Amino acid sequence: MDRRADAIAAALGGGDAAFVRAPGRVNLIGEHTDYNDGWVLPMALELDCLVGYRRRADGVVNVVSLDAPDDVAPWTEALLAALAEEGREPVGIDAALASTVPMGAGLASSGALSIGLGLALCRVAGLALEPAVLAEACRRAEERATGVPCGFMDQMVSALGRPREPLLIDCRGADVERVALPEDLAVAVVDSGVRRSLSDGRYAERRAACEAAAARIGVGSLRDAKPEQVADDPVARHVVSENERVQRMVGALRAGDLVEAGAVLTEGHESLRDDFAVSTPELDALVERMVGLGAYGARLTGGGFGGCVIAFTPRELAPGLADSVNLVCVQ
Ligand code: GLA
Repeated sequence: MDRRADAIAAALGGGDAAFVRAPGRVNLIGEHTDYNDGWVLPMALELDCLVGYRRRADGVVNVVSLDAPDDVAPWTEALLAALAEEGREPVGIDAALASTVPMGAGLASSGALSIGLGLALCRVAGLALEPAVLAEACRRAEERATGVPCGFMDQMVSALGRPREPLLIDCRGADVERVALPEDLAVAVVDSGVRRSLSDGRYAERRAACEAAAARIGVGSLRDAKPEQVADDPVARHVVSENERVQRMVGALRAGDLVEAGAVLTEGHESLRDDFAVSTPELDALVERMVGLGAYGARLTGGGFGGCVIAFTPRELAPGLADSVNLVCVQ
């Protein structure tokens, strides 16, 4: 963090700067449920987007990124518009940001970027938004900047989350409960090496299929669909079964039942692979590999089509994993 902070301070031309950090996340379970009014269980990572900033008296907005994405102009514009809708006065800023969250890896680099920059833009303008309001504004900004009709899980956990403290978020109404992880459980994040972009239309296609299914069944969102109503519709079936898995996972973690928690992960992967159809052969192979290495269970995490796998492993197994797989982090 210190070297990044130094680089940011240098990019701002020296002098006093304030800093804010916004974490990336790994989603334990609850994939493609947020935009269906369902439940999710994401956890903040130690990887984050660090933003240094200072107010400018002349009203000019000047934001630079020290790494990818190097052009943050569309993000800045979209955030300024979304935050103006929440009452932000137009105030000038010099800001520089640097992120350790890999892009296209399913770890919410966009959520970290939008919350980090969004917070900096709010603070120079003296605007204190409730975390859920900030998260929703940043979600709108992301949709405008990228065209992806995303849910607000990533922004919520970036605004509120802490490492090793998954958040159970009810996406209808944004109620949040913190869930502790059992001490002897390690959460490993492993990279498949396949990069993906959710703006290629496939995420939007899945979301449209969910909305069409809800309309056909006659419910406002798939959260209210019963298993028997979606038995013949794989996309909707994933959402309904995934909501059940979130509840099962919370029960298993609270009971310290790591075998059950691992089984929920692996079942979640099978549902994303077979019903929701967002896995890839590389992700499937990596899930199998992690289980072969002794994980309780594993699954792809994030939107899918590439990126990372999350695995639950016994604590003592975690340090050696880097010899066998491309380990991003262990928490
Ligand atoms: C992306 C979106 C989230 C969520 C996940 C899938 O990360 O930004 O809102 O829909 O995909 O669970």
